[in-house]
Amino acid sequence: MEPVLTKYVREPNSFTLDFYLKHDGYTALKQALGTQPNDVIEIVKASGLRGRGGAGFPTGMKWQFVDKKIEPRYIACNADESEPGTFKDHVLMERYPHLLFEGCLIGCWAIGAKVAYIYIRGEFYHVQKVMEAELAKAYAQGYAGRNILGSGWDCDIVIHRGAGAYEAGEETALIESLEGKRAQPRIKPPFPALSGLYNKPTAVNNVETLCNLPAIVLNGAEWFAKLGPEKNGGPKLYCVSGHVKRPGVYEASMNTTLREIIFDRAGGIRDGHQLKAVIPGGSSVPILLPDQLDVPASFDSVQKAGSMLGSAGIIVMDETTCMVWAAMNLMHFYKHESCGKCTPCREGGDWLWKILSRIERGEGQMRDLDLLVSVSNNIAGKTLCAFGDAEATPPLTTLKHFRAEYEAHIREGRCTVPAEWRARTAVAAAH
Ligand SMILES: Cc1cc2nc3c(=O)[nH]c(=O)nc-3n(C[C@H](O)[C@H](O)[C@H](O)COP(=O)(O)O)c2cc1C
Repeated sequence: MEPVLTKYVREPNSFTLDFYLKHDGYTALKQALGTQPNDVIEIVKASGLRGRGGAGFPTGMKWQFVDKKIEPRYIACNADESEPGTFKDHVLMERYPHLLFEGCLIGCWAIGAKVAYIYIRGEFYHVQKVMEAELAKAYAQGYAGRNILGSGWDCDIVIHRGAGAYEAGEETALIESLEGKRAQPRIKPPFPALSGLYNKPTAVNNVETLCNLPAIVLNGAEWFAKLGPEKNGGPKLYCVSGHVKRPGVYEASMNTTLREIIFDRAGGIRDGHQLKAVIPGGSSVPILLPDQLDVPASFDSVQKAGSMLGSAGIIVMDETTCMVWAAMNLMHFYKHESCGKCTPCREGGDWLWKILSRIERGEGQMRDLDLLVSVSNNIAGKTLCAFGDAEATPPLTTLKHFRAEYEAHIREGRCTVPAEWRARTAVAAAH
């Protein structure tokens, strides 16, 4: 598939307004402004675009739910990108920021918003600087702000820097943080489309989601839908990390299988090693085994295979990976990042980490395995947001597929992967 989103990102100065204008920049916005807002919603609905932030919810439907009777309305662009293994939005924002600005403006036109807030991850300081400089140029040349493209329509884009919390990527926590409060989730319903930022209707959309809009407007809904399997249309960015020869961001149709992405695009497993396990959608989703990879890397097919496409962060592990260590390492992240609002997540994450750590050190007991399941099941589905489900996943999925490895740790009183592969285990355990 000819790249759509990342076609130019490797070219020098691709981030500048001049470059963008030379490559059809802001022509989709001009076209959209010549139509009724509802027409844009209809095109996006017909295209079948699904959110690229994790849940894969249809974007057009989300926009339709936005309450058009209440003003003001907002777009909140989710640029928090903190899911481990996920680094695609970063590339778009750093190398092609005007695509995102144009997507934000088309989204605002569609739902009748006058402001788009781009909530950018705190650690993306450099990216933010690039975006701010480019946004100033867009304002100066009439592509944002007052009387955009001479249309008489005003719309602002505000770049808001987060303070470095994974939870701030959850849509209601993001809204709280934008309002100047701690990034903790709200009870849903009401959903942001009805009551979001400042209790006004808000569409929270991921960076990659919004970046698809100019191409949909220019090329049409049918073109977009036909790029992938039914209900999984459009181009998709995959972040491949771990034990592959060429880690990186790859754009492909969702017809492409997970095996093709890992072996053809990312070069396969590093020399002399074999594939052991893959987490296909960022750290929060269940593991797939090597014989489960011949499925299209689409929302629906990956789900059928027993996992989720999530943020399309494909984490590849070879046989040098101790799966108890992997679960412990991920749990270290979750226990640290829990926002603390819900007791099961706040307390349970720490317990899970402690249990996993003692098994990894060789100090676990067989009854710890049931305890891991019991604690995990008392977190998943029992919290305000999906963080709890994510946190419960590493122990449950590694136990499901690699129980023998856990039992060997307990029986032998030590980590069972060879010593030369264990160096990093010691580093993680020291935290
Ligand atoms: C703990 C947690 C972290 C999340 N982090 C992100 C994130 O960094 N970026 C993102 O786009 N969505 C993230 N999401 C998903 C958002 O809540 C929301 O579904 C998404 O921004 C909607 O945009 P989309 O419809 O374009 O996918 C996260 C969800 C949870 C539960």
